[in-house]
Amino acid sequence: MKKVVLIFTCFFVLIQLYAEDGYNLWLRYNPVENKTLLTSYKQQITGIHFSGSSPTLLAAKEEILNGLNGLLQRKTPLTSLISNGTVIIGNSSSAQIAKAGLQNELKQINQEGFIIVTKTIAGKKCIIITGNSEVGVLYGSFHFLRLLQTHQPVNNLRIISSPKLKLRLLNHWDNLNRTVERGYAGFSIWNWHTLPNYIDKRYIDYARANASVGINGTVLTNVNANATILTKTWLEKVKALADVFRPYGIKVYLTARFSAPIELARMKTADPLNDSVRQWWVEKVKEIYSIIPDFGGFLVKANSEGQPGPQDYKRNHADGANMLADAVAPYGGIVMWRAFVYNPESNDRFKQAYEEFQPLDGKFRKNVMVQVKNGPIDFQPREPFSPLFGAMPKTPLMMEFQLTQEYVGQGTHLFYEAPWFKEVLEADTYTKGRGSMVAKVIDGTLDDHELTGMAGVSNIGNDINWCGHPFAQANWYALGRLSWDHELSSATIATEWIRQTFSNDKKAVTGIQKIMLNSHEALVNYMTPLGLTHIMYNGHHYGPMPWGNTLNRPDWNPVYYHRADSFGVGFDRTAKGTNALAQYKPEVRKQFEDINNCPDDYLLWFHHASWNHTMKSGRSLWNELCYRYNTGVDSVKSIIKQWNSLEKFIDKDRFVQVKQLLNIQLNDAVWWRNACLLYFQTFSKMPIPAQYEQPDKTLEHYRSIRVLFAPGN
Ligand code: GCU
Repeated sequence: MKKVVLIFTCFFVLIQLYAEDGYNLWLRYNPVENKTLLTSYKQQITGIHFSGSSPTLLAAKEEILNGLNGLLQRKTPLTSLISNGTVIIGNSSSAQIAKAGLQNELKQINQEGFIIVTKTIAGKKCIIITGNSEVGVLYGSFHFLRLLQTHQPVNNLRIISSPKLKLRLLNHWDNLNRTVERGYAGFSIWNWHTLPNYIDKRYIDYARANASVGINGTVLTNVNANATILTKTWLEKVKALADVFRPYGIKVYLTARFSAPIELARMKTADPLNDSVRQWWVEKVKEIYSIIPDFGGFLVKANSEGQPGPQDYKRNHADGANMLADAVAPYGGIVMWRAFVYNPESNDRFKQAYEEFQPLDGKFRKNVMVQVKNGPIDFQPREPFSPLFGAMPKTPLMMEFQLTQEYVGQGTHLFYEAPWFKEVLEADTYTKGRGSMVAKVIDGTLDDHELTGMAGVSNIGNDINWCGHPFAQANWYALGRLSWDHELSSATIATEWIRQTFSNDKKAVTGIQKIMLNSHEALVNYMTPLGLTHIMYNGHHYGPMPWGNTLNRPDWNPVYYHRADSFGVGFDRTAKGTNALAQYKPEVRKQFEDINNCPDDYLLWFHHASWNHTMKSGRSLWNELCYRYNTGVDSVKSIIKQWNSLEKFIDKDRFVQVKQLLNIQLNDAVWWRNACLLYFQTFSKMPIPAQYEQPDKTLEHYRSIRVLFAPGN
């Protein structure tokens, strides 16, 4: 009987061990199943020659040893000798590397870059992983493991890689009570209650995951900030996290509530030009650096959506940012000042950030970055690029993307974001002629800036798989990879992620990749085709509400954005309308201003087009709208089919999880399509062409839907 229990227990433990709960992200290090490949890897990797014992190098060593143990199913020995197949790891100053003759290669990489090369040393064929800094070695080690995890050949390596951006950050919108604004993956991973004395293993795994894709900073707190984080007790907790992250090359940043001097020190004002206020920040920053010597700096949301800011004192954004910048400058800190502002005064929300910020170009201190959301409104499924990109050449602009899927299906829709991000990165601003891509604005090459960066609003929570939807992990991964190299294609990033996360089987890779690459267009079609935007439910932002018109600020209401009437639909931003297009360079303007040339995808962003307007396809606008919404639904149906066809390649846990979520996505896509078409039909008065599935419920039904439980708002 005892034996039976033991066998059963062992079996159960094994199943537990191999249960794919998603916790290991893309760092699974599962055994290489292909026997030929495994044998060749074993021949080419016979031992590790490791130099250095700093915390960062020890982290690299541990990762390499663990990774190889898992992948090669054997312990790879540490060795002090060099023989065929030795992997030599260390930074450029270590004795073995210094002898290897890599001076030229080392000159080609920056401080965080790495080199992985095959070299023959004293007749022995080795692999060298090195960099000019310890963190470069760590990044190189992770990259090497990525090569193995994705089954790449390692017999003749010559990889010379440096990050194109200096700051590669996550922005957590995490509150101190552990709720996460717009979070769909549980509560905050920062357990403030048990910090600083209890270090959850998750913090280390979080750091590993970030370092594996080159993320080098994290803003721990919500942009809708709470000044309490700046008090000593809380700073001690922040320090504990900073200590965990440091070996992984990750700096900690905080959001600064502009009114903190009032809230924490009972001052009468937070006026940035007031000497006592300035002094208060100087002292506060001094305290922060005494606790966290390598503190990164502040992220600030000011005078936006009720947040306090310099305008409360008739000062401008530069006055506010510069005050904080002066305080952190002696310590090498920076300020990321957000351009997400929309004063109700302007006649078009599209124009507001530009109107407030563009005139301030050249007025910010050197250590200030202005952080701009990808589009002019707010992370909508498809937006043209923000006209601020290219319009502030004297100011380093940081890109803000949103990983958490606030407007793109939240916790339930499969939505791969790299194509969404790339659309903006690859857009041409024409500020210095053709080829002035947004990517070049943010990587500093266009206007010669050293301070460069990209941030992703985190989609991480305490769900076992970190991000809620199993595919949402790909968006965290993509942010890291794109902030390292924005030239990587969406397909490449997807392939890497799939191979590390699901399977290296060719059929699985191709099938999953297809699903991922189609997911952006599918979602745009079933939510906001042809340039419709901001027609979601107010408050929680889940589901369609194109009729929304009850909030006191017009620019919070969907009807403000689509402007549907008996003539047509869309927002006229040409010279005849709000002239928002004037914020772009003439070449960009030209692409959009003529209704007959404007790409379909952006039509309703810039034009109030007649229901009968002839689209590129030859269909009328109304018929095209019906076509697009139906295409969106059909795409989800075909994604479901494709997913089902992959069952044999995917572990049961995640297969079933995704399958269930895809069914929710399909219901939602139908909900979006029916609600929007029925609503817009009240203006167009045209039938939904018979070839399409007709809505089976009334508009009244859709208008009465209430989402009772929506997390994250
Ligand atoms: C959106 C979002 C808010 C968030 C804001 C921001 O409006 O709905 O929750 O605070 O963006 O980016 O600051």
